[in-house]
Amino acid sequence: MIAVRRLEEGDVPSVLRISLAELGSDYLSETDFADAMADDEQFCNVAVMDGSVVGFAICRVFGPGSEPEVLGLPDCPERDVVLSTDMIGILDSVAVDDSAKGRGAGSAMCSACVDEMTAAGCGMVCAMAWRSTTGRTNIAGILRGLGMAETVAIPGYWNRMVDSPGGHDCPECGAPCRCHGVFWYRTLP
Ligand SMILES: CC(C)(COP(=O)(O)OP(=O)(O)OC[C@H]1O[C@@H](n2cnc3c(N)ncnc32)[C@H](O)[C@@H]1OP(=O)(O)O)[C@@H](O)C(=O)NCCC(=O)NCCS
Repeated sequence: MIAVRRLEEGDVPSVLRISLAELGSDYLSETDFADAMADDEQFCNVAVMDGSVVGFAICRVFGPGSEPEVLGLPDCPERDVVLSTDMIGILDSVAVDDSAKGRGAGSAMCSACVDEMTAAGCGMVCAMAWRSTTGRTNIAGILRGLGMAETVAIPGYWNRMVDSPGGHDCPECGAPCRCHGVFWYRTLP
């Protein structure tokens, strides 16, 4: 049985360990989780299975003026849609412990997050997904299930968004990262 609840301070060592293994050594720090708990424009949900935290999803709700720092899309039709939306919700960082993958934790967290962003009045829900050099996007099935569609793919995206001197230290392909960032979104009525 999977429960989804807000990240609490005592969960930070667990989610940090999951992040380091699944998203890379330079992607999130303890401060990022502290910010996600404190900042009005962010929230972080965790998935709990058999009493243990097995995954997390950090979300952000932002206005079009923050598009460059939150998304950094190139000039494209999808960017125009973002810029014409008053409030956008993004599944910003999602990861599940390797031992718990494929059992519904990621789907349960993402679904709860999208419900919250919808209830908050977002006109769009989106995610910048990570497509590996093999062409696999781990989170694609979950995003599709939430009604989002895949759009523009951006090469070298994670090296630009992660502030590491040698480029993002990707858990799949090392530094600099050769994966794509792929923008998925759904507009809401
Ligand atoms: C992407 C990620 C978060 C998914 O988490 P997860 O808990 O494995 O996700 P789920 O179990 O909900 O779904 C994964 C698959 O298992 C299937 N599944 C869901 N519940 C299931 C269940 N109870 N039993 C068996 N399979 C199940 C889903 O249909 C999905 O299949 P699909 O990928 O073919 O659509 C996880 O793989 C991960 O952390 N990957 C590394 C980091 C990463 O890529 N993060 C995303 C960055 S954009």
